Amino acid sequence: MSYDMGFVPPALFGPGRLVEVPSRAKTLGARTALIIADPFLADAGLLDPLTAGLKAEGLDVDLFTEFSGEPKTTHVTAAARRADSVDLVIGIGGGSALDIAKSAASIAAPDADALDYAVGGKPLAARRPRLAIMIPTTAGTGSESSATNILSDPDGNKRWIWGHVTKPDLIVLDPELTVSLPPALTAWTGMDALVHAFEASTNRRTNPGGQLHGHHALQLVARALPQAVATPTDIEARGALMLGSFHAGIAIDNCNCAIAHNISHAMASFGPVHHGLATALAFEATLPWLVTQDTAELRAAATALDCSLTNLPQRITALMDACNIVRALPETCQIPGSQALAAAMTREPNLGILEVTVGAPDAQAMARAVFELLGETA
Ligand SMILES: [Fe+2]
Repeated sequence: MSYDMGFVPPALFGPGRLVEVPSRAKTLGARTALIIADPFLADAGLLDPLTAGLKAEGLDVDLFTEFSGEPKTTHVTAAARRADSVDLVIGIGGGSALDIAKSAASIAAPDADALDYAVGGKPLAARRPRLAIMIPTTAGTGSESSATNILSDPDGNKRWIWGHVTKPDLIVLDPELTVSLPPALTAWTGMDALVHAFEASTNRRTNPGGQLHGHHALQLVARALPQAVATPTDIEARGALMLGSFHAGIAIDNCNCAIAHNISHAMASFGPVHHGLATALAFEATLPWLVTQDTAELRAAATALDCSLTNLPQRITALMDACNIVRALPETCQIPGSQALAAAMTREPNLGILEVTVGAPDAQAMARAVFELLGETA
């Protein structure tokens, strides 16, 4: 056996550690910073202490919040052009903010165009042109520890800016930043982390290094998620989710994902849907097929979830019930039928994810399973 493991950036974990960011930024050598943040963080004044701290350390600070929803190549292009005038990019927010910030720091230039990298195949520079600090405020995507940055192109297809160079110089995991996350978003993002850990630990590309992180993440997320949904201020549960998301990010960074993400990305091509919700629905719908594969890796992942492989579908259904996840797509994402979903699953670039799962899934059957879960026939 042989396999590669990508590097994991330095990370700080613990409640309240956001306050260390300004001094760390100065230690990295930054004199100017662009904060790329979810707009609501700025609107609610939640960035004020960070901005004040950076200024107290002598840094000039600019702010970029011109994005919403899932990240798009147009967002990254605009952010990368703004990032050209600073030497540090600080990403703070959910996975969208972090993917935009990591990408912008990696392609910063006055005439940068994210499409060149995400669609055109232009290689990233060997060294990231700007320093980068990433601060997640959700626990789900694991973007902070991943080389993958997912963006929608102008046609709505999911694309990637990929490279270990996009990983930041520092990660700050402060669970206090996640306590205001509403229960539904906590559940959706937590399930995304759980599926990252599961798929990375069980697909064709899995390896013992990825499984080490993936199994740890499965335990952390499965045990803490219902508690964090029920009691949002439980800082211990929030911390477990944040660490779980981080370790799941490392797992997926090394081993990639599988069928649930193929379907999730295919769903998103029909209209806006939260990535965590779509992924959770696809995971639950395809588990009955997946457990019939009965590999050692699947059995080990089930053990990490405190159940047998046979009982895994019921275990996940019970977990999603405990987190009050409604099995429905939003009005913004209506899929005309299972055949349309299957066609999207087998279209590039989604096809690449379909192929990294165990076995050879029948896209038509998987798409029908999703529709059955949603209570629809098509
Ligand atoms: Fe995901």
